[in-house]
Amino acid sequence: MVSAEKEGKKDETAELARRRGFIWQAFEIYGGVAGFYDYGPLGAALKRRVEAKWREFYRREGFYEIETTTIAPRPVFESSGHLECFTDPAVVCKRCKSVFRVDEHVYVGAMCPECGGALEPSGEFQLMFQTRIGVTREGADAQALRKSEGYLRPETAQGMFINFQRLLKFNRDKLPLGILQIGKAYRNEISPRQSLIRLREFTMAEVELFVDPSEKNRHPRFAEVKDRIVPFVPNEGEPVETSIGNAVSTGIIANEYLGYHIGRVDEFLGSIGLPHDRVHFRQHEKDEMAHYAMDCWDAEFLSEKYGWMEIVGIADRGDYDLSAHAASLNIDLHVRTETGKVVPHVIEPSFGLDRIIYALLESAFYEEQLEKETRRVLRFKSDVAPIQVAVFPLLNRDELKSKAQEVFELLRNASFFVEYDSAGSIGKRYRRQDEIGTPYCVTIDYDTLEDATVTVRQRDSMQQVRVPIQDLKTALV
Ligand code: GLY
Repeated sequence: MVSAEKEGKKDETAELARRRGFIWQAFEIYGGVAGFYDYGPLGAALKRRVEAKWREFYRREGFYEIETTTIAPRPVFESSGHLECFTDPAVVCKRCKSVFRVDEHVYVGAMCPECGGALEPSGEFQLMFQTRIGVTREGADAQALRKSEGYLRPETAQGMFINFQRLLKFNRDKLPLGILQIGKAYRNEISPRQSLIRLREFTMAEVELFVDPSEKNRHPRFAEVKDRIVPFVPNEGEPVETSIGNAVSTGIIANEYLGYHIGRVDEFLGSIGLPHDRVHFRQHEKDEMAHYAMDCWDAEFLSEKYGWMEIVGIADRGDYDLSAHAASLNIDLHVRTETGKVVPHVIEPSFGLDRIIYALLESAFYEEQLEKETRRVLRFKSDVAPIQVAVFPLLNRDELKSKAQEVFELLRNASFFVEYDSAGSIGKRYRRQDEIGTPYCVTIDYDTLEDATVTVRQRDSMQQVRVPIQDLKTALV
């Protein structure tokens, strides 16, 4: 949930992201459409690196990745409850007719954010994009039209639920079973005015972990997270910073599986560079929970512009989804376990990758005043930075350029994300790399031709050290 957009404060993150080729509004030359953004070369590289870390992180849990379709026929979302429940309340301005999603600032009784007019209710608005699958004849009857109805998925999760039987078989009929998916999802948001935060097309990275409900309080690796200290905002009682072990034993968190995954989410967010003191875990209010959830904790990031905003949801979906599909299709999705035959429960850490990219950009950005200029820096960790190292010839001379090309290729062949730049003064080249978050710059000068050493300049400290070329790969970590 995005709360308290700070009125009038320019979205400097979105501005920097656009200027430096990370992310910009889609269809820009056609005037743009709210809620759609494109990733440029640096943004796509940053996102791919975060995705790769995420994939690796959950593969280490022993989970399997799948890829399912982004369009599904109507019955899938009839069963899942999305057709009936996946709606947002809207209000319309009586004067200018603008339509808004109801939130803590916009509701009947508040003033129209566009013209100050009075707002009145405009009903519940279905958030899924509808499409037609195949050709429908002109004049087709209602039944034929309904049969061709498809929807763009609003979450990747349903692809994991409807393939459960095959996936369980793949796992030799054993629980727990963890499935991952990274992919696009779509929501036809009513009024996405919050730049990168509320998108109509976005990337989700989701885990659906199927567990025996009687095992939810016995996670085999709970000891690995139990001492991790996390700030919690429960829906009852006061916010508290405590260990995950304590939160589970005192009932703040309902079970070990939820606790374990809250711990892992916290660890992952730290590993990509989000500052620990700008993340907390907030439990959904009872009336805020999605229709499928029996419990849900959001990892929220404290944005300077938007206040606390959800970046990950960790839900306990119980047996809602499997039971819903089983009932609609009249099939049996019970699994035989040591304790009997159970319908598995689902624990779901669901990551909003675009919001995480936004949070990374915002929290990595800082400005400092040097003697003659302002230095702007994106302080990305080396293992997510879109460019890890830039290679420069000190001067635009052939002998330095060819040596610099050699070093550039050496690093590229060693799988570094590396850029070559020979344009402009060395100071300007450093500033450009600072602004896109490159941790290291390597400069080739005349001494390099003599003794095969280069200057390595570190982004944050701006310190420079001389390093032999043969040691570069280990020096740039
Ligand atoms: N699957 C989580 C969500 O739809 O938000």
